[in-house]
This record gives sequence, C-alpha cells and structure tokens, in this order.
Amino acid sequence: MKNPHELIEKNVGLLTVLILVAISFGAMAQILPLMFQQSVLEPVKGLRPYTALEMEGRDIYIREGCVGCHSQMIRPFRAETERYGHYSVSGESVWERPFLWGSKRTGPDLARVGGRYSDEWHRVHLINPRNVVPESNMPGYPWLAENKLTGEDTAKKLEVNRMLGVPYTDEDIAGAKAAVEGKTEMEALIAYLQSLGTHLQ
Ligand code: HEC
Repeated sequence: MKNPHELIEKNVGLLTVLILVAISFGAMAQILPLMFQQSVLEPVKGLRPYTALEMEGRDIYIREGCVGCHSQMIRPFRAETERYGHYSVSGESVWERPFLWGSKRTGPDLARVGGRYSDEWHRVHLINPRNVVPESNMPGYPWLAENKLTGEDTAKKLEVNRMLGVPYTDEDIAGAKAAVEGKTEMEALIAYLQSLGTHLQ
C-alpha cells in the first residue's frame, strides 16, 4: 500500500496548513491557560499606575533604545536575586504596554533600580556615564537635560492606557499636561527609573 505520508510530504500547501495546525495547538496550550489564571492578571498589592511624568519618561526610555542594553526581568535564580533583589512577578507588569522585559544585558537589569541611586547620580550618569563609572561603555544622553516636554500628548497617553484597563482617574488625565509641561526629558526619565520595581510589598 502506498504510504499515506507521501501525500503530505509531496504537497507543500497541505504540509504548511498541517504544520500551522500543529503549532497553534502548542501555542494554545501555553497561552490560553495564562489568560484565565488570576495570579498573572492581578496587579500586585501596592502597584500604582505611572504618573504622567513617569509615563513620559518611559516613552523616552523606549525612544532612546535603553531596552537594547537593559532588561527589566529578574529571573528566579540565586545569582540574580542576590544582585538585583526579589525576582520579577507578573503582577508587577499587568499595566505595562508594551512590556520592556528585554532580552539583552549589556548593562545591568533595571527592574528594581528605583531608589537605588539618587536623582543627582542618575543625572550625572545619563549625561556621561564615565563621570560616575569610569569603565562604563554606556553612551551619554546629554540632550535629555535640554529637551523640554510640551505635555501635548500626555493626557491622550493616559487615556489610551485607561481604555486598556489601567485605573487612571479623570483628575489624572485632566492634570496630565500641567504635570509635565516645561519639565526636561531628563527629569521624566529619572522619575521613571526611580519608580521601577518599588511596588512589590
Ligand atoms: C550600549 C549599551 C547601553 C545602552 C544603550 C544604555 N545603557 Fe545603561 N548601562 C550600560 C552599562 C554597560 C552599564 C553599567 C556601567 C554603568 O553603570 O554605566 C549601564 C548602567 C546603567 C544604570 C545603572 C544600573 C545599576 O544598577 O548600576 C542605569 C540606571 C542605566 N544604565 C540606565 C540607562 C538608560 C535610562 C538608558 C537609555 C537612555 C541606558 N541605560 C542605555 C549599557 C547601556
């Protein structure tokens, strides 16, 4: 009898369709349970949404490509928790859009860098990292201290996040522009960095 497998192996279209079916079962088995598992959907106790200024800082972090050298994901291994603190839990990231977990660590993980240094340390470090860490190969970002925020889109950003489930109040949105207008990009980025990983109780 002819091998029925031959039909699949010699028919690229059919093979492609069957491969897609097989892969989607694997994906469903991994993804679907997570959509219904409360522990990964609920914010950790003490989590608060980013302030308007932190939200702008986060966008600058994305724009400047910091995620290309810094992860924000502490894995549950001793070598990591001794260095960076408690491992990251999903309840800390429920309002993160997009996630900035990253996968490249040219520099250290930043998931819990909030509160580790003073604002002044960050300012000096961001202008020229070698002023505080002589062997650093991180680039400097001096223009952040000069660029000012207009706050033009800030309210819109909070609104979109609220639509996606982040609990911003009407007052947060109404006050968003005033909260950031005239501040420098540096101030926003530092506010964002100082908020990272400080909510787990
Ligand atoms: C080319 C890779 C690279 C890029 C891009 C980069 N960094 Fe770094 N970063 C490093 C390295 C390496 C270190 C460790 C040496 C040092 O402290 O400067 C570091 C250290 C840091 C630290 C101190 C962390 C700690 O725990 O000591 C912070 C905060 C930081 N970077 C923030 C940023 C931010 C914000 C951006 C984007 C504006 C950025 N980095 C972009 C490589 C990078």
